Amino acid sequence: MTDHNATPRSFSASAPLQGRIRIPGDKSISHRSLMLSALAIGESRVTGLLEGHDVLATAAAMRAMGADIERRDDGEWRIHGVGVGGLLQPREALDMGNSGTSTRLLMGLVASHPITVTFTGDASLSGRPMGRVIDPLSQMGADISASPGGRLPLMVRGLAPAIPLSYRLPMASAQVKSAVLLAGLNTPGITEVIEPVPTRDHSERMLKGFGATLEVEVEPDGTRWISIMGEAELKPQTIVVPGDPSSAAFFIVAALVVPGSDVTIANVGLNPTRAGLVEVLRAMGGDIELLDAREVGGEPVADLRVRHSALQGIEVDPAIVPSMIDEFPILFVAAALAEGRTVTTGLDELRVKESDRLAVMATGLKAIGVRVEESEDGLVIDGTGGEPLPGGATIAGHLDHRICMSFAVAGLVSKTPVTIDDIAPVATSFPNFEALLTGLQP
Ligand code: S3P
Repeated sequence: MTDHNATPRSFSASAPLQGRIRIPGDKSISHRSLMLSALAIGESRVTGLLEGHDVLATAAAMRAMGADIERRDDGEWRIHGVGVGGLLQPREALDMGNSGTSTRLLMGLVASHPITVTFTGDASLSGRPMGRVIDPLSQMGADISASPGGRLPLMVRGLAPAIPLSYRLPMASAQVKSAVLLAGLNTPGITEVIEPVPTRDHSERMLKGFGATLEVEVEPDGTRWISIMGEAELKPQTIVVPGDPSSAAFFIVAALVVPGSDVTIANVGLNPTRAGLVEVLRAMGGDIELLDAREVGGEPVADLRVRHSALQGIEVDPAIVPSMIDEFPILFVAAALAEGRTVTTGLDELRVKESDRLAVMATGLKAIGVRVEESEDGLVIDGTGGEPLPGGATIAGHLDHRICMSFAVAGLVSKTPVTIDDIAPVATSFPNFEALLTGLQP
């Protein structure tokens, strides 16, 4: 997964997208379901697990640390955990591929176990900052030696018993929050995370579901105090993973911008900490209907019927950013097709994702003829009002799945095809993206 031959792929103007698709499992929830199952004593069962490279890297890591993880032919995963405190020393370095979530959450788990683990990753992951987890985990007693700049490869020497911590998040990051909470699982006493800006709460929901004593208090200004009682005993669970709203996002926008489209996207997770894109696209005039709202695996889920719509530019409130942090690349494509100007701010975290998503999107959008200005923390985009984009460029995807899929959607509404230099990264989060797209075309 770290080295591969680049596979270029072109996307061209599409006929109306029509039909019904089912979105694969949520990446965040899939990682967590493997990690917590691997720490429970007894057999957990997981269905709907996302089988993308990132989640498979987590599965391989948990196996290397002693869990028994098996995929049955019917797609159900069965996991026999080692118990909190029971992780074993892996024999080799853990290759995290492209996955920041695997790396940061597993660093948290290792930090409070008496084992030493080396983490490696691909070129994208090796450029991403790990200082944000190294800081709190070092305060809990882990000894971490990183490459220059707090990067991978790095080695975590865990400490057991670790030292409980009360940690105020310096940035809105569910990965940092989760790393500290997961370290707290095997730490005596109470470990606490103070979160001034709420981020995705899948760790909190699932830790509670597995029987950990976790409490959340919310201050009037929205600050969340999350505390976990350590040396927890986790009970095995049966988990149904809902569909990933961050994957659905590409088809929501594709259906909105390709003229004549009418697509139903089944099984979309709509946890309020993840659903910002739907709100923003509706405010832009997007016709998105929620059908059969229900609960799956303790998370709100619905089917979405999305029809082609004339979109209006919008000023996106920075307060909504954490609930759609991964959806900005595809929102920028929607903005490129909208009438008038879209202004985004407060997006500095986009610069440290799988790529610098502000710079890479600005460069790519300019190359296909979009009027875009990049600021320090956002993009300003003047849309075409529904006219097709010029297209006709090859886009550097920088090993970033969401960049690749965003420009694939842009290609569907371009006069001249848009080529992605390497489509392979899509398999980290959405292996059947192209198959689902082809299935919606006549
Ligand atoms: C994730 C948190 C977010 C998100 C990432 C998945 C998670 O990262 O961008 O795709 O599963 O906790 P940050 O914590 O860096 O914001």
